[in-house]
Order: sequence, then C-alpha cells, then structure tokens
Amino acid sequence: MGEEGAKSVRCAHCGDLLEVSFPGWKTSAGMRVGGLDAVGLKQLWLQRRTSSKALDESGVWRFREILPALHDWNNVITLREGNTPLYELPSCGRAAGVDHLFAKHQGMNPTGSFKDTGMTAASSFAKQGGFRWVACASTGNTSASMAAYAARAGMRSLVLIPQGQITWGKLSQALDYGAITCQLKTDFDGCMRVLDEVVQRMPVYLLNSVNPYRLEGQKTVAVELLERFDWQPPDHIIVPGGNLGNSSAIGKALLEMKELGLITKLPKLSVIQAEGANALVRTMRETGGKKLISVHAETMATAIKIGSPASWKKAVRVIEATGGAVEQVSEVEMALAKAEIGADGIGCEPASAVTLAGLKKLVKQGFVKKSESVVLVLTGNLLKDPDFTLKFHRGDLFAGTEHEEEAAVVLGPRQRAPMVLDASANAVVKVLEYAEQNDPRK
Ligand code: F0G
Repeated sequence: MGEEGAKSVRCAHCGDLLEVSFPGWKTSAGMRVGGLDAVGLKQLWLQRRTSSKALDESGVWRFREILPALHDWNNVITLREGNTPLYELPSCGRAAGVDHLFAKHQGMNPTGSFKDTGMTAASSFAKQGGFRWVACASTGNTSASMAAYAARAGMRSLVLIPQGQITWGKLSQALDYGAITCQLKTDFDGCMRVLDEVVQRMPVYLLNSVNPYRLEGQKTVAVELLERFDWQPPDHIIVPGGNLGNSSAIGKALLEMKELGLITKLPKLSVIQAEGANALVRTMRETGGKKLISVHAETMATAIKIGSPASWKKAVRVIEATGGAVEQVSEVEMALAKAEIGADGIGCEPASAVTLAGLKKLVKQGFVKKSESVVLVLTGNLLKDPDFTLKFHRGDLFAGTEHEEEAAVVLGPRQRAPMVLDASANAVVKVLEYAEQNDPRK
C-alpha cells in the first residue's frame, strides 16, 4: 500500500493547491479512488450518462472521483459542459495519410470552446471561496467562458484582452455575459503581466489556465475520450499549443489514468503551434525543453497568439512522459487544414486546425504511421472566427502578403466565394450546372 494523497504546491497568485489530492487516492499500483477500483470507476461513470442530475449530466463532474472535491456539491456551476462528440474524419484522414482519424470536438461545448471544462471547475471553487470578482487575461475563448460561468454563479468578471487581437465573436460573448471588458494596448503576454499586478492589489480570483482547478477540469476531455474508445487508447492525441494549459491537463489525465489502471498503454501526446508563435517548439529544439524561449507572437490564429506560454514546463513534462512530438505549421498550411476540416462537415476555428496541418508533417516524418489511430482535439467552434472563414473563401486572407502566390495555388481549389445573382431561377440553375460539371470529386 502506498501513501494516501498527492504532493501539493501552492499557487503564487491565489495561494491554492497546484497538485491536488484525491480523497482515498493511494499512490501505488492497484489504487482505489473513492473506494472504487478501475472497473468500478468505469461502471459508475458510464451509469451516470443516464442520470438527469445536473452534476451527472456534466461531462466534467461525471468524473468527479478524479477531481478535487467541493465542500458542498451544490456550489457546482455547470452549463452541462463536456460530453462532446468524437467524429471520424475520413477525407481529412486521406489528406493526412492515416487510416483512422478522429476529431474530439471541444468546440461543441456551451460557449463554443474547450475552456468550459476547466471553467466549470474553477468557477465552482471561486464561488465556494466566496469571491465576488473573477478575472482573466485572454485571447478570447477563456474570457467568453469565464464571463458565462461567472454570470451563472452570480459573480462579477473582469476581462483583459489585447486590443484588436481577438475575434468579434469571442468579444461579443464576454460582453453579452456581462464581463467588464478592458482592451489593453498590448499583446496577450502584456495582458498577463498587467493582470498579475491587479490580482496582487485587488481581491479578485485569477481564472487563467495557471489556476489549478482549470487544469483539473480540462483533464476530463482525455477521460471521455478513453471511455469512448472503450479504454483502448488511440496511438496519438494531437492538440494545438498556446499557453499550454490544455496539453498539460490532457497529459496529466493520461498519466493519472495509467497510474489508476484504467488504461495500460499511453497515447503519444503531440503539440502543434503556429510558426509565428512557436515558443514551445523552439524551447524543445534549442534547449531540449530546459529553458523557455519566448517569442514575439504573430499569427492569424489569434487564439494561440502567445509568445511566453505560462504552462511550458508542465507541457514539456507530459510530452516527454508520453513520447509525443512538437511541430509547427505555416499560416497557409493552417488555412488549408481548416478548410479540409470544414469540408468534412465539422469545421473549427483556425487555432484548432493546426492539429491537422501538424499531423500531415508528423506522418511525412514517419512519427505517425499510416495504420495508427489519431485523435485531433479541435478546441474551438467554426463560428468563433467567421471573419477568417469569409476572407478565406473570398481569397482575401493572404492578399498583399508574401504568401499571396502560394495561397492562390494551394488554397484556390478550396475557395467557395458567395455569389451575388439576379433573383432568377435561370441564374441559379446555371450556377448549379457549372458546379456539377466542375465537381472535384468526380
Ligand atoms: N485553441 C483555442 C481555440 C484556444 O482558445 C486556445 C487558447 C488554444 C487552442 C491553446 O490552448 O492555451 O491551453 O495551450 N486560448 C486561451 C484564451 C489562451 O485566452 O482563450 P492552451
């Protein structure tokens, strides 16, 4: 028998525990959580899918045995997050050169991004702690999610975003959910620095992904995924990397599931970044993951436009522990991948599409084999960034940039600009006939 509980470290910002201990967790093989072994846990979690209790309907709290426990479960703030679909991506699989490709679509969460799974946990603890104010710096999705959960909890929320660098969709969500929204004349990393100072001076609860409860909630995507695969893990899980909270959380979950005996094999967890925001890629390649190399971030995928990722150390640890890879992709590669995911009838926001673009590279390098199963974690909904999609289809995305020529060749065949026609059936029939004659699938 091992020791009960896990080691804990206090967060420099909020004083909370960074590594949380689970009730009844024994830290050695043959562990039991809440008095249940691996088989018992699997059964219990599955049974809850038929329950209509709010706590069980949540795809996060359904797995509450492996989450930090609240004093009173009535404090849970849930919008029924999680339980997101796993889709097959046949034509994207062909484009990438793998036989078994899936997308776990976290953009199907209540506010349209993966942030909700962490936010239900962290906002519940903020409410339990009696906080009136919660705050975050964000590239858009965290702020949308935080504002929604704070509103449900009856708390006020403060959002710091880089001026002109988040999408309208995300900004409008924060406003609608009642956040006090400050657009700072800086980038995301600058917003983080300002917020760090604000939380030292005011009694606000920090809800950025350094918040330990956020990471705990975000673990559940991996648990759901493994459950969906009947606990026979896929060979690879691929996620986009920004501030690196998501990859850290998923990696933590995989290691915990293995330790608990819920799985016997670890999927390889790989992280893909945009070339212009490639701090982790450089950190791994140039320092072997020992020292962070910050960059000045530039990418059209505003969600991951981050130069100094807060959770880089944790991400390095889980990539190494699972045998995963890091890779970077160009803006054109990302735009093509986004159109391909859209054409499979799924769609996602640009940051999520780096996963498919990165997979193509990992297949070419031989890191991912054709016969292996791969899951892309799509982090945000297509509707988060309609501007990008419209510009893509109108052919404006790379106009006037150094990539203009390359984009015309690579992306041209995928573009479907909306047409303005006279209000006549003749005009529409002509378009239909033309489209039929030129169907690329024929
Ligand atoms: N994909 C989307 C759609 C995101 O919004 C983010 C991060 C990421 C990927 C990267 O995840 O930071 O955990 O590595 N968005 C944060 C925000 C930074 O403020 O909304 P990460």
